[in-house]
Amino acid sequence: MNLRALAAKVIFQVLEKGLSLSVALPDQQRHLHSGKDKALLAELCYGVMRVLPQLDKQISDCMSKPLKGKQRIIHQLLLIGCYQLYFTRIPSHAAISETAEACRQLKFEGLVKVVNGILRNIQRQEKPLSCDNETLQYNTPAWIIKRLKAAYPSNWQHIIAQSHQRPPMWLRNNQQRQSRNDYLNRLQAENITASAGHSHDSILLEKPTDVMQLPEFSHGAVSVQDGAAQWAASLLAPKAGELILDACAAPGGKTCHILEIESNIELVAVDNDEKRLERVQQNLDRLSLDAKLIHGDAANISTWWNGDKFDRILLDAPCSATGVIRRHPDIKWLRKNNDIEELANIQSAIIDHCWHWLKSGGTLLYATCSILPQENSEQIEAFLARTPDARLVPLVQQEDKQAIGWQITPGQENMDGFYYARLIKD
Ligand SMILES: C[S@@+](CC[C@H](N)C(=O)[O-])C[C@H]1O[C@@H](n2cnc3c(N)ncnc32)[C@H](O)[C@@H]1O
Repeated sequence: MNLRALAAKVIFQVLEKGLSLSVALPDQQRHLHSGKDKALLAELCYGVMRVLPQLDKQISDCMSKPLKGKQRIIHQLLLIGCYQLYFTRIPSHAAISETAEACRQLKFEGLVKVVNGILRNIQRQEKPLSCDNETLQYNTPAWIIKRLKAAYPSNWQHIIAQSHQRPPMWLRNNQQRQSRNDYLNRLQAENITASAGHSHDSILLEKPTDVMQLPEFSHGAVSVQDGAAQWAASLLAPKAGELILDACAAPGGKTCHILEIESNIELVAVDNDEKRLERVQQNLDRLSLDAKLIHGDAANISTWWNGDKFDRILLDAPCSATGVIRRHPDIKWLRKNNDIEELANIQSAIIDHCWHWLKSGGTLLYATCSILPQENSEQIEAFLARTPDARLVPLVQQEDKQAIGWQITPGQENMDGFYYARLIKD
């Protein structure tokens, strides 16, 4: 099937069925053989998600009545057509004819002329994309803009701009295999330009690179993980002989990093999503690491654990993922304003419950990839207020030592948006 038709199916799955891009895209990429085509399919789908409101407006302005029901997929196809005209170097005649052909392949023969006509009109008129309101200007839903304005009055626009950048590729050096310097030298020998990040194992690649081009990737020399996420294991600081809980572990990036730093621990990795837990096992296998995997609820530990209390707990809580919009632009359309309160309630239930299972003197590291205070500093402030034996320890990395936790904003030192708070039990 034509690549634009596959792209329309992906966008349909995300916008109409609520699937994430990271699930819907690989499903359609399977139908393509060349790496170049797979990359173009990804570029079209990610691109449409980044600038959806402006494309939507352009298409709606060209139609007398909106496409509904089963025909909705042709609206999504038009978004892809429009994206090619404004944001790619694909010659317009090729973009238009391929998109019209996709309409035929999607079995909407009767709409081929409509698709062709609309895209030709857009191409002929060369009208700038609309910036008539803030959603259009920032390609971001109004509720996110409102929350960011409240949380970051002086730099919300910068945060939104950073959330539209293409993210860099970070590697995590496996310190059990080689030193970071050794790996940097190996990359250099392969003409792959890279530099060391601030955290102990992080490596920033100048250009995203196919993992199969990376020396010894399949043997576990390195893993792909954003620089911000790599702080988790170092801030948790596992020590030999300890019993550690990774409370929301899947797909296991941080689980593996904890074990790379200190393999002589008993690590219990839990997730309530059985399918995602399989990916933890795959990651452990690639790196030849071992953890006790449990399919269970971190807000109900006694149902799956009757052992000792833990020395350390990593709580990488389920969250809005508003810090990683640059990697997952579909988040802007999949998340809803009401989700934030619901997520905050889930987070507080999990943190309260995990706290009970922490030894006195133990450390709980709370982490999210959110940039919203409701899930971060306000969440921890409320936890401290209701938990007399909890003490917050400022992190050396945080600029403002008075702040409740360390909020990293998207693009800061090339990292994703992330939040960390380290809590000690008296
Ligand atoms: C942010 S992700 C974790 C990412 C992971 N720590 C990593 O570094 O790869 C949050 C995870 O929490 C899991 N989760 C959500 N609610 C949970 C609960 N009540 N108990 C256990 N896991 C839960 C989700 O399935 C999801 O895999």
